[in-house]
Amino acid sequence: MRWLAKAALQRGLGFLPRGESLNYVFQRHVARSLPAGESVFRRKFARAEQHVAAYEAHGPDKPIADAVFYEFGVGWDLAIPLSFAALGVGHQVLVDIRPSARVELVNHSLALLEQLGGPVTSLAELAERFGIEYLAPLDARATGLPAESVDFVSSTDVCEHVPADDLAAIFLECHRLLRPGGAFSCRIDLQDHYSYFDSSLSRYNFLRYSDGAWRLVNSPLHFQNRLRAPDYLRLVREAGLELVVEKPSGPDEDGLRQLEALPLAERFRDGYTPQELGVTVLSFVAVRP
Ligand SMILES: C[S@@+](CC[C@H](N)C(=O)[O-])C[C@H]1O[C@@H](n2cnc3c(N)ncnc32)[C@H](O)[C@@H]1O
Repeated sequence: MRWLAKAALQRGLGFLPRGESLNYVFQRHVARSLPAGESVFRRKFARAEQHVAAYEAHGPDKPIADAVFYEFGVGWDLAIPLSFAALGVGHQVLVDIRPSARVELVNHSLALLEQLGGPVTSLAELAERFGIEYLAPLDARATGLPAESVDFVSSTDVCEHVPADDLAAIFLECHRLLRPGGAFSCRIDLQDHYSYFDSSLSRYNFLRYSDGAWRLVNSPLHFQNRLRAPDYLRLVREAGLELVVEKPSGPDEDGLRQLEALPLAERFRDGYTPQELGVTVLSFVAVRP
């Protein structure tokens, strides 16, 4: 039940006017989950490498130094965009609906990427030093950025936190921003995120709740939409993007057993095979034809 206490706290913070800042204080000084450790950073670096590989395999025929990358939902420490810079990406536009990036956390990422040089004193300095434009708060549903102005869209562990209707709008906006021939590389973590905090929970635990019950637990600060892999892929196609890579991970045998033992909410009982329901991480690449 530890997870319910955490959910209640985040739900409370989520409805406060300065909830985002209070959550930062909580994550940094109480939960001590920020700054994330070096192993988390290395995992994010590997995700940036996967996005760059997707650009090289499916994006336009343009060197990454000349390409414009766009990432939505960049978070606190800008670990992925700074990894992109270290990998040679020349220009980046970053958006986040919350102005979560913090200079001290960005400098923590920079300290782990020695090739990028020393710390910054402000987020504005990222433009001059790394070609990174950080735009927040800015909603990825409607950025106001010029149409067909980016070569590549990436997103990492964000879509699972966005309500389904908002996600449809975000994918349409990605389509609008991409130049024809541009590519979108996306990673989505479909596991119940409270299971990371409370090891007694199955990674599918949240599938047992009706939408009404889940609404009571869900917090604006840690929203989880519970969409499954086929739902995301449908939204991508409906936005007019063409899927060129679909890479679901899981479920393994243990995952299938956990699913079988779980009293699924009606919403998840029909309409999905156990294989579809149990996907833990979904990566895909789609192109704008
Ligand atoms: C879990 S964090 C992921 C952070 C980062 N991508 C990483 O891997 O470290 C999800 C981020 O998505 C952002 N986000 C959620 N909805 C958004 C929207 N409609 N437009 C832009 N950003 C959004 C949140 O504010 C949050 O910073």
